[in-house]
Amino acid sequence: MVVFPNCKINLGLQILDQRPDGYHNLETVFYPVPLKDALEAIRNPDPHPTEALLFSQSGLPVSGDAAANLCVKAWHLLKKDFPDLPPLRLHLHKLIPMGAGLGGGSADGAFTLNLLNQLFGLQLSAEQRIGYALQLGSDCPFFILNRPCFARGRGELLDPLPLSLRGWHLVLVNPGIHISTAWAFTALKQSRTAGRSLQLREAILQPPDQWRGLIRNDFEPLVLQAHPELNHLLNSLYDAGAVYAAMSGSGSTFFGLFRTAPDRLPGFPPHWMLKILAAEF
Ligand code: C5P
Repeated sequence: MVVFPNCKINLGLQILDQRPDGYHNLETVFYPVPLKDALEAIRNPDPHPTEALLFSQSGLPVSGDAAANLCVKAWHLLKKDFPDLPPLRLHLHKLIPMGAGLGGGSADGAFTLNLLNQLFGLQLSAEQRIGYALQLGSDCPFFILNRPCFARGRGELLDPLPLSLRGWHLVLVNPGIHISTAWAFTALKQSRTAGRSLQLREAILQPPDQWRGLIRNDFEPLVLQAHPELNHLLNSLYDAGAVYAAMSGSGSTFFGLFRTAPDRLPGFPPHWMLKILAAEF
């Protein structure tokens, strides 16, 4: 079985407060974006393999130990509760940039849960899969539903939204700076800007050309402060005709929504830019 985990952008991201468990309550809107990895699972024909899971990767190089990969963690999570899962080979082909605020790793983990559920007929409900996904990471539950959602809590309290960007062009700009989410939350705590609440849930249902000034990402000023060279990026997206431009998640990918996508962004290398066609969006 082959599945294609897609990424997401955050349309607005507000950090509300820190919780007793150390995580932060937040509000955001997750929107699925058709830039995809590929994940293939086949039953291992060897009935007695040395390892119950054989995991391999290709595509963009992934730093760190394979055991830390969310696909592998997802398999272990289910294997604990379903010890009879048969031996499996899992291959991940990575195309979504990492540490980029696009949730690629989270998508891989969540899609692994959905894939195992389907391949082995585990009959887990969406609610149960969301429970497993939250054990993998705060952004994972969204990918179980994988439709535009207003999210609260750590990101797992999901309300689907009647929001469609079909007809718009999305330009993703990935400057290749790896940002750790844990770093972003720590920097935010030190900047003490959290807690101001805009009505994101209402604002996001306004037409996109009214979002500028209405919808913000609390991580954006921190990332711009740490990487001043990115300041020019937002202006450049607006100069190129974006009706709304912002950073996704904890960065460092920025995106712009356009009626007509520009050919290039002056001052930025073309390979930083990825255009998503309206028909797919
Ligand atoms: O859940 P996830 O593993 O993606 O979180 C990475 C880190 O980001 C956590 O260890 C925590 O420091 C921070 N975080 C947070 N509040 C959230 C999500 C993440 O503090 N809602």
